[in-house]
Amino acid sequence: MEAYGPPEVLSYVETNLQPLGPREVRIRTIAAAVNHTDLQIRRGNWTIRSANPFPYVPGVEVVGTITETGLGVSDWAVGQPVITMMQGLGGVRAARPGAYADFVTVDFDTLAAIPSSLDPVAMAALGLVGVTAYEGLRRLGSLENRRVLVTGAAGGVGSAAIAIAKAQGASVLGLVSSQEDSAYVRQLGADDVHTVARDRSPDLKAESVDGILDAVAGNAFGSCLNALRAGGVLSLVGAIGGSDVSFDAWTLIRPVIVTGYSTELLDGPALRNAIHHLSGWLNDGTVRAPAHKSLPLYEASKAHRYLEQGGVRGRILLRPFQRH
Ligand SMILES: NC(=O)c1ccc[n+]([C@@H]2O[C@H](COP(=O)([O-])OP(=O)(O)OC[C@H]3O[C@@H](n4cnc5c(N)ncnc54)[C@H](OP(=O)(O)O)[C@@H]3O)[C@@H](O)[C@H]2O)c1
Repeated sequence: MEAYGPPEVLSYVETNLQPLGPREVRIRTIAAAVNHTDLQIRRGNWTIRSANPFPYVPGVEVVGTITETGLGVSDWAVGQPVITMMQGLGGVRAARPGAYADFVTVDFDTLAAIPSSLDPVAMAALGLVGVTAYEGLRRLGSLENRRVLVTGAAGGVGSAAIAIAKAQGASVLGLVSSQEDSAYVRQLGADDVHTVARDRSPDLKAESVDGILDAVAGNAFGSCLNALRAGGVLSLVGAIGGSDVSFDAWTLIRPVIVTGYSTELLDGPALRNAIHHLSGWLNDGTVRAPAHKSLPLYEASKAHRYLEQGGVRGRILLRPFQRH
């Protein structure tokens, strides 16, 4: 990107690889997932925190294999499959060029290993939405025999959250906006589904859930707060339905907790812990990778248009397919 703007500001260019510095690791990309944060940054809604932001390479997560290691890199070997995300890779911090690239360079401490038994593309599809769902749900405390509401349940974060909450013994109520999504979310394992149009507030039963993983906010927020039982926790991880919310202040006079999680807080140890758990669940089939569609890296602008139009089920992955 040489400027903020529509998807067309994304262009595929060739540059020379720089020699690695100390602690750095070079990864050959297998797949880099596209996130809403990439769209917000491209549009200029979330500005890059750098005096000279352009040229800018988007992408906050990548799965690949290590091709080269710099001085002082221990415990990581060439050929090893790894995942890394956030921690200054692209994003608004842009400490490094992002993940929409054939080769990505990061500090070795930002990596997590992917077990060789797993399909790296499946891990790329779970990736950041899986880590967000895992950490967001952790804010709810023990999930065993708890009733958990997941908003945006058919989306990337939501679908991962359903599987992870079920894996930890919760009963899950999913909130979606269409009958089609309702069937999909049941297929993912949700015990119950509430369907409401995006421009309406859901009519959720008061004091009926122990925890909420909320990626939507917007029209749903007030009703979600009201649905929390005393002692319940709402964990906010996104506001795709809008960040202006209204609610009855009396709902907060009960002992409920409103908190949240952002992957801006992620560091190497937290990533490795989350990937360890997600790998275990992927391995034993408790959690399945979300549906995904792959596009070549040079079609990044097309990928942004798809995600912007909405209706994408699961995730969009950019992969370094050759141009014919
Ligand atoms: N905290 C973090 O670190 C973190 C990490 C990743 C993502 N996020 C945020 O989490 C949110 C969801 O991300 P995602 O990757 O899951 O997105 P996604 O795959 O596009 O899914 C979003 C879901 O939300 C629903 N939705 C979309 N617009 C809506 C609206 N206006 N009102 C109500 N529901 C709406 C859609 O369901 P229907 O089609 O059924 O309406 C869709 O299934 C985004 O805001 C994203 O920025 C945060």
